[in-house]
Amino acid sequence: MILDVVSIFPEYLAPLDLSLIGKARRDGLLDLRVHDLRDFAHDRHRSVDDTPYGGGAGMVMKPQPWAEALDHVVASTADGGRPRVVIPGPGGMPFSQALARELAAEPWLTFACGRYEGIDERVYEYAADDLGLEVSVISLGDYVLNGGEVAVLAMVEAVARLLPGVIGNAESLVEESHEDGLLEYPVYTKPASWESAPGVAREVPSVLLSGDHGAIAAWRHQQRLERTAARRPDLLHPSQAVGGAGLEGLD
Ligand code: ADE
Repeated sequence: MILDVVSIFPEYLAPLDLSLIGKARRDGLLDLRVHDLRDFAHDRHRSVDDTPYGGGAGMVMKPQPWAEALDHVVASTADGGRPRVVIPGPGGMPFSQALARELAAEPWLTFACGRYEGIDERVYEYAADDLGLEVSVISLGDYVLNGGEVAVLAMVEAVARLLPGVIGNAESLVEESHEDGLLEYPVYTKPASWESAPGVAREVPSVLLSGDHGAIAAWRHQQRLERTAARRPDLLHPSQAVGGAGLEGLD
């Protein structure tokens, strides 16, 4: 997969050299290219923002550097392929595991990191109408960040780990929160009895030590339902209400 990130703070993307994403880059699974938006600003101060028409607080990102940056990215391939453009912003559609899967199926993504009050609206029109690109504005959640860079770190990690070969143990992707609409069950490791304070022993639930795979699976499912009901009741279907019809036979 090809990933381009355009930002006025290219250093913000340095963590993408680390851990599994860094290894995926070194293994050639991910071709990640970070571009400095100021390289496409040609005035003496390499300025990328200006005051908003109509008044109001803050600054707006100028259209010309963004258009040139997108031209540069699109021209980087000779095969006529086109990237899908993702612009992170609090006014976008909500990011989710389903959207991460959708993006992971794309051969080429270009992330455009806005700052200040946002990017001049004509850049969205230019990308779609003149360059023929699909543009998706995507929000991490209902809160406001200072710019798109942190959102890109989260989205790239969520997308890249779904690519074949990035996570060594592909099975670990299956039982995760949000893959099937339920949160994940609690996990434990050794020791089976841990003394967290003198005289206070905290035990691993005995079913996990039983070797009874059916009982373990049933316990884990029950835990997933209870956790989801407690933390994210909005995710549950009415038939999954804890203690309701969805739990018959599990008590
Ligand atoms: N940029 C600023 N706020 C954001 C958010 N909530 N999600 C994605 N990008 C953003």
